Amino acid sequence: MTILLLNGPNLNLLGTRQKEVYGGTTLAEIEEMTREHAQSHGFELNSLQSNHEGVLLDAIHDAKQSARGIILNAGAFTHTSVALMDAISSVELPVVEVHLSNIHAREPFRHKSYIAPVALGQIAGFGSQGYLLAVDALVQHLSGMS
Ligand code: DQA
Repeated sequence: MTILLLNGPNLNLLGTRQKEVYGGTTLAEIEEMTREHAQSHGFELNSLQSNHEGVLLDAIHDAKQSARGIILNAGAFTHTSVALMDAISSVELPVVEVHLSNIHAREPFRHKSYIAPVALGQIAGFGSQGYLLAVDALVQHLSGMS
C-alpha cells in the first residue's frame, strides 16, 4: 500500500526560501520524516516534487495505478490550477491538501484553493508537521474504507 507525496513549484527551495513563512526544514527532510511516519502506519511513500504543472498532472494520473491516496502541496498552483482540480476529480483518489503556512491568514489571492473542493480536507499553518497530520488523516480515511 502506497501513498504519493506530491510537492509543487518552489517547494524544492524549502530550507532557504522565506524561512519566516515556511520554516527551515528542507524538502528532503520533509520527505524523509513523512516516509518514516507513513511506514510506521504500514504504508510506503513515493515522493515527487516538480515546478511543472504537467509533471504534477502526470503524477496524479499515474497514481491511479500506483497509490491509494495523495498528499498534495500544490504551492502556488493551488490558487490557479483548474487542471490539477480536474485531474484529482478524474482519478478519484483521496487527496489531503497541505500548506506549510496558513494560507487563509495571508494575502487574499491565497485564500482561494482549487484543490480544496476536490480534497478530503486541508491542513494549513502547521509547518512541516502538517505533512505528518496529513498521513494520519489519509491513513484513517483509508482504514475506514476497507
Ligand atoms: C504554500 C502556500 C502557497 O500560497 C505558496 O504559493 C507556496 C507554498 C504553503 O505550503 O504554505 O508555494 O503552498
